[in-house]
Amino acid sequence: MTHIVVLGSTNMDLVAYVEKAPQRGETVTGREFRTIPGGKGANQAVAAARAGATVSMIGAVGNDAFGTRLRTGLEHSGVNTDHLRTVEGPSGTAHIVVDDEGGNSIVVIPGANGTVDHLVPGDEGLIASADALLLQLEIPMAAVLAGARTARAHGVRTVLTPAPARPLPPELLSGVDLLVPNEHEAAALTGVPDPFAAADALLAQVPEVVVTLGPAGCLYVTRGAEPLAVPAPRVTAVDSTGAGDTFVGALAVALAEERPVREALTWAAAAAALSVQREGASASMPYRSEIEARYTA
Ligand code: RIB
Ligand code: NA
Repeated sequence: MTHIVVLGSTNMDLVAYVEKAPQRGETVTGREFRTIPGGKGANQAVAAARAGATVSMIGAVGNDAFGTRLRTGLEHSGVNTDHLRTVEGPSGTAHIVVDDEGGNSIVVIPGANGTVDHLVPGDEGLIASADALLLQLEIPMAAVLAGARTARAHGVRTVLTPAPARPLPPELLSGVDLLVPNEHEAAALTGVPDPFAAADALLAQVPEVVVTLGPAGCLYVTRGAEPLAVPAPRVTAVDSTGAGDTFVGALAVALAEERPVREALTWAAAAAALSVQREGASASMPYRSEIEARYTA
C-alpha cells in the first residue's frame, strides 16, 4: 500500500447552510447548522485514506471537545494520528457559510494549528518513510518549510496546495514537486489571470503544476510535455467545501500508485465530483470503491 503523510491543519467546521450568504451589515436566517470535521490538512488525509492509502497526519488539535472529535474522526477514516499532538487551548475552527448553489465563504481561526511551527522528533522519520508528503498553508510557514526540506532530503515527493493564498518564500517552491493551486491562487501567485498562462509561469519554479478549475476540471502542465486539460464530471453541487482537498488527496494516491497522469487526474476529478454532491468537507469524501464506480477512463 502507498504511504502518504500529511503535515497540516485540523479544524472543526461550523457550517451554516443558507439560501444566500449575507452581505456586510445584513442578517439572514439560515436553514441548518452542522459541525463537521475539516481543515485542509485533515481533509487531504481523509481523502487519501478513503482513496486507499496508508495515511499519517502530523499536526495539532486543542484539548477541547472539538479536539477529541477531530482525532476520532480521522481515526474512523483510517488515518493514523500518532503524530497529531494535543495542545493546551482551543482547536482550530472554520466558520463557513454555504449557499444554495453549494458555494461557500470561510473564516478560519487557527487555534491549535498555530502551534505547529516546527517538526518534533519522530516527524522527520515518518516523512522520510512516505511515498508523498502533502502540504497546505493553514499552519505556520516555518513548519511547511521544514516539512518540504525534510521530504526533499529523503527524496519524498512533495505536493503543495497553496491555500489559503499567501505569498510563498521562493525557498518553499524550490522544495515542491507538484503544486496544486486553484485558479484564484494561481492568479494570486503569478499576477497572471489566465490559468494556462499562470500554470506555465509557475513551471519556472516547480516541475509539475495542476490548476483546479472547479466544475470546469483541471489543467496539468509539466516541463517539456504537452499540457493536459481534464474535464470534471457534470454534477449538481450541494456543498463544495473540501472539494479541492478531496481532489489532492485522491490525486496523490493515484500518482503514488504510478497511474498515468491523465488517468490519475480523471480519477481525482471523479472523487471531487462525488464530494460536492454531499454536505461537509471530510464527511463527504468518497471511499475507493465509490471512486472506482464513478470513474470512467
Ligand atoms: O479546504 C476546505 C477547508 O478549509 C475546510 O474544511 C475548512 O476547515 C477550511 O480550512
Ligand atoms: Na462536500
